[in-house]
Amino acid sequence: MDRGRPLAALLRVFALTVMACAGARASAPLPIREANWLVASQRLHLLTTRPEECLPEDSPDIVSLVYGTVAFRDPMLLGGQAARAGLSCMSCHRGGRGNPGFHFPRLSGAPGTADVTSSLMSSHRGDGIANPKPIPDLTFDIPKISRVDGRGLEAFIRGLIVEEFDGVPPSPAILKGLASYVRALDPAHCPSRHDQPYGLANALADYFLALGAAETALVDHDPETAIAMLRGARSILGEIDARFQAKGLEGPRATLDEAGIALAQIQQQLRDGGDLTGPVDAVHRRWTATRRWADPLILHERQSLYNPEKLKAALADRAS
Ligand code: HEC
Repeated sequence: MDRGRPLAALLRVFALTVMACAGARASAPLPIREANWLVASQRLHLLTTRPEECLPEDSPDIVSLVYGTVAFRDPMLLGGQAARAGLSCMSCHRGGRGNPGFHFPRLSGAPGTADVTSSLMSSHRGDGIANPKPIPDLTFDIPKISRVDGRGLEAFIRGLIVEEFDGVPPSPAILKGLASYVRALDPAHCPSRHDQPYGLANALADYFLALGAAETALVDHDPETAIAMLRGARSILGEIDARFQAKGLEGPRATLDEAGIALAQIQQQLRDGGDLTGPVDAVHRRWTATRRWADPLILHERQSLYNPEKLKAALADRAS
């Protein structure tokens, strides 16, 4: 891809295309955004599974690793049109690997490829020709970007976020976290190379990880990182909400709405500045309320699009 057609512009085209298609269809588009860029034959599998992330159970770098884990999942990290389309690092690097079914209009060539080379490795580009490359498996492939030299990796990731995707520069802690995450991925930590079922429990675990990370950042007097962790938590609420878009699931959706509003208020408080005690307490309360808060969701998971049968029917319904 050359500099004249940055990824942000392509994503804008994509967003418009999706909207136009949605308008033309008889039935509403599937609320799950990933479904829009997955090869049809692999959609059901890719939306109901995820490879195990090959991360260590413990690490001297654990706080950094958690920040990175949360940011890696958050489309808002990439900003602009990627955020609008719902694209995160995880969309391409599923569970820290590749994504054989990734097929994003105009960004992908063959399934499993994407063009992210425009301003990053542009010394050999700039001829106006789209240049999609296989999305590398960050766990099993031999890395080109040195994982030992943390700065090189951080510069690469920063360029990806800021130049390629139009994102706001992440806080130093988050940038370091993303590098820690990429560096920590190692086949040695993986009992299984196979995809595992991915359901509500996984999404909830991610949500609470993000809340815990926000609390940690606040205790570390780093409101900027805390705001980003809360943003990560809200992105996950949005993903869960997309799976609960069905009649009869108004109750669980209200639970999600309420949490989303509460987190947005905490973010606003943090942006306004001032004493961190209130926000720390507020995040902590949400974090400890875990089970009770999630009960309505867990109770209705079978009716939601986390249920592979329901999802299969919804996908078949939308197939043209
Ligand atoms: C649109 C899909 C896409 C997204 C989103 C994406 N990547 Fe990638 N990534 C790729 C592709 C394709 C390559 C290979 C580029 C090449 O070979 O020139 C790559 C390469 C990499 C590499 C280099 C691997 C090596 O060989 O050393 C790292 C590290 C990486 N990505 C991390 C990330 C992180 C962190 C994010 C989120 C900030 C991210 N990627 C978002 C598609 C993506």
